[in-house]
Amino acid sequence: MSGENIFFQKKGLPRQNHLQTKMKINKIVQQIKPSGIREFFDIVATMPDALSLGVGEPDFTTPWYIRDAAIKSVRKGYTSYSSNRGIHELCVEIGIYLKERFGVEYDADQIIVTVGASEAIDLALRALVEPGDGVLIPSPSYVSYLPLATLCGGRPIPVECREEDEFKLTPEALEEAAKQGATVLIMPYPNNPTGAVMTKEDIEALLPTIEKYDLTVLSDEIYAELTYDTEKVSVASVDGYYDRTIVISGFSKAFAMTGWRLGYVAAPKAVTAAMLKIHQYTALCAPTPSQYAGIAALKEGREDNYQAVMDMRDEYDRRRRYIVGAANEMGLRCRLPGGAFYVFASTASTGMDGRTFAKGLLAAEKVAVVPGDAFGEAGKNHIRMSYATSLDVLREAVRRMRRYLGLPQA
Ligand SMILES: Cc1ncc(COP(=O)(O)O)c(C=O)c1O
Repeated sequence: MSGENIFFQKKGLPRQNHLQTKMKINKIVQQIKPSGIREFFDIVATMPDALSLGVGEPDFTTPWYIRDAAIKSVRKGYTSYSSNRGIHELCVEIGIYLKERFGVEYDADQIIVTVGASEAIDLALRALVEPGDGVLIPSPSYVSYLPLATLCGGRPIPVECREEDEFKLTPEALEEAAKQGATVLIMPYPNNPTGAVMTKEDIEALLPTIEKYDLTVLSDEIYAELTYDTEKVSVASVDGYYDRTIVISGFSKAFAMTGWRLGYVAAPKAVTAAMLKIHQYTALCAPTPSQYAGIAALKEGREDNYQAVMDMRDEYDRRRRYIVGAANEMGLRCRLPGGAFYVFASTASTGMDGRTFAKGLLAAEKVAVVPGDAFGEAGKNHIRMSYATSLDVLREAVRRMRRYLGLPQA
């Protein structure tokens, strides 16, 4: 944006006022709130010496063998569009990966390679939701589900997930919300921001309610590789789910590939065909060099049982145990989260809600955490701390948080 202004100034053209326009902007878009995370991190961006436990992205660089494959593909001149669905070899590799790691079978033509899991969520919602349809969204949850459901004219219905239930989705909470009339259920596990994981038994327990209300399940499994204490589960692998589930995942978190914008969606063929219609007109295809990187990530990764992914996971696990211990010692109550790389801690003992706590901490000690209400009303008295950052940074952040809370240094 600043680039544009410089251009206008140099040419002596009038400066554009970006806050006002005569253009008619879609009312639904106007109603959508900017992300509560971004809003907070615009402030953090003005503080270069702030310590951030805010961002939801790996602090690791993409493993070299993956980067190298992308470089080689560019050297060879593979720089054109791929087929809309994605490079066939990548779709095949995704199918093999899902079968080996999660025991769920998809043919290449049931898969679309997308611009991150973000595009996959959008495609799935647009393919499924008609104006007025209810979309059940566990709360707290990742920030994009509600606005994307709203953009399709859907009616987002929060399903409250309580701390005492380890933030899991329970059949009771689902029943209560589904009564309001819904066609789609989003299942975002392991969960951002709570780290909650749904075991096979937890998922099985929801099936009677899902069948009763004939819900289609949109399962966002982007953190599935980052499951620590229990077996990794894909919802589609649980009996009764395959035909009613769309699986969304990607490379951003497990392979530390956020900037490559590479994700995928797998579904029953008719649903994939519907999503492909939208994808071919909007994204056309995912970036081709990223797709070559993705092929290497899966194919070469398979040769050593995804050692690079497992090494990163083990490091997250060490940090997880440290930060959960330190948070509880400060009175910021939290359980050991079963997945992802976030701790969702209660600020109740401090007498502050999550937003007041986070703003105060940032101003006093320059430590950035995310207010829990960014993920829905249910997160109001919590903060999200990401442990996708080094143990040294986590230790320094804890030292500053203790000072903020007037506690002696441990
Ligand atoms: C639950 C969840 N789904 C999807 C995404 C987006 O992933 P991608 O980078 O693949 O678009 C994120 C990113 O933070 C996330 O937390």
